[in-house]
Amino acid sequence: MDQIRIIGGKPLNGEIPISGAKNAALPLMAASLLTEGTLSLSNLPHLADISSMAHLLGELGVEISMNGAAPSGGNMGRVLDLTASRISETTAPYDLVRKMRASVLVLGPLLARVGEARVSLPGGCAIGTRPVDLHLKALEQLGAEIELAEGYVNAQAPKGLKGGHVVFPMVTVGGTENILMAAVLADGETVIGNAAREPEVADLANCLVAMGAKIEGIGTDTLKVEGVDALGGADYAVLPDRIETGSYAVAAAITGGELYLKGTRAELIESVIELLGRAGVTFVEETDGIRVSRTNGPLKGVDLMTEPFPGFPTDMQAQFMTLMAVSEGASMVTETIFENRFMHVPELCRMGADINVHGASAIIRGVGALSGAPVMATDLRASVSLILAGLAAQGETVVNRVYHLDRGYERLEEKLAGCGAAIERAAE
Ligand code: UD1
Repeated sequence: MDQIRIIGGKPLNGEIPISGAKNAALPLMAASLLTEGTLSLSNLPHLADISSMAHLLGELGVEISMNGAAPSGGNMGRVLDLTASRISETTAPYDLVRKMRASVLVLGPLLARVGEARVSLPGGCAIGTRPVDLHLKALEQLGAEIELAEGYVNAQAPKGLKGGHVVFPMVTVGGTENILMAAVLADGETVIGNAAREPEVADLANCLVAMGAKIEGIGTDTLKVEGVDALGGADYAVLPDRIETGSYAVAAAITGGELYLKGTRAELIESVIELLGRAGVTFVEETDGIRVSRTNGPLKGVDLMTEPFPGFPTDMQAQFMTLMAVSEGASMVTETIFENRFMHVPELCRMGADINVHGASAIIRGVGALSGAPVMATDLRASVSLILAGLAAQGETVVNRVYHLDRGYERLEEKLAGCGAAIERAAE
């Protein structure tokens, strides 16, 4: 298993290309199940989760070909052509779903296209129980018959799905995406209330429209879908990764450097920019990216609460906590989306951070500096928070179990090393 070694204390300066968003790419790939035509997705990041989704779709009968790679040094990402001219299999097996929860996103499109799907229940994961009950209830409201047996969701819609009115009791990104993909081929109108407004949901909706779907209210919390008989292929570019953007913005801030984040957009991370601004970080939006710097003075502690978009993203909480650990004064972080998302805290404390967790909140008292240590990554965003801590710390930090990072950050060491970080990957 690989580990990442970092010698901290070097300000980062330079340019980092931002990749396509993993969390947009996964549902977009699942949307290829909805049409016989070819969905050509560009700006796809090269990540383990993308390969897992490609593997699952391949099992279901989708033909996938790589139709271009990133020009070296650019941030165009890969181009994949996905063609589901025939669905040959409707089961998403445990082994694939276990590795990646987003596999559950094939449920809605399979039901809509062929009237049946069998998908393994994802089970627990490091950041909480994360059930799929809301996905299932919403699909039932479109007429699906659902049974749970032997760890699998067995879903049927022998006469096809029917439009309906779905109001989610809490905001769910994956739930909104699954029901949206089901509704585009259902008979009649579907209204989705309390829909997730995350940019990745809007990206999926825009792609579905390019494929011929009729959707109103994109980007709002009420989506109106008029079902159509069939969808066609489309060419679609995945939006930039806002969590990668925010993570590198924190890297510039925590090391006291200046980074140009190329190919991304400020509107995707307004809540993050606002908070970093209050902490003492400067942002300038330029034509094809954002310039982030912290060159004048120390960081100041700020409080944050995670919320559905446009609120502060839970996927940026761990990175912010690392930043607060070396800021002046005290900060409070409250996590409202996932119940067990403070796994990075004990590791940060081993590097000298002063953090106390009380239920869903953590109090962080800024310390002058962190010190390098061997640490263990527990999930995707926790692992990047440890990388950030290593970049700021005095001495050497070794982050173990980096396979979590490879699920969500494309060429991380290369991008950071290109801006002056002393970082390398080594076999454990
Ligand atoms: C997506 C993102 C993930 C991000 C999360 C919240 C992808 C691939 N992943 O995950 O990176 O952290 O949004 O922004 O896009 N819930 C239920 N029942 C359900 C569904 C969800 O109780 O049926 C709960 C979850 O346990 C959680 C909350 O709702 O507490 C939000 O989860 P959700 O928005 O569904 O997250 P994901 O789509 O899994």
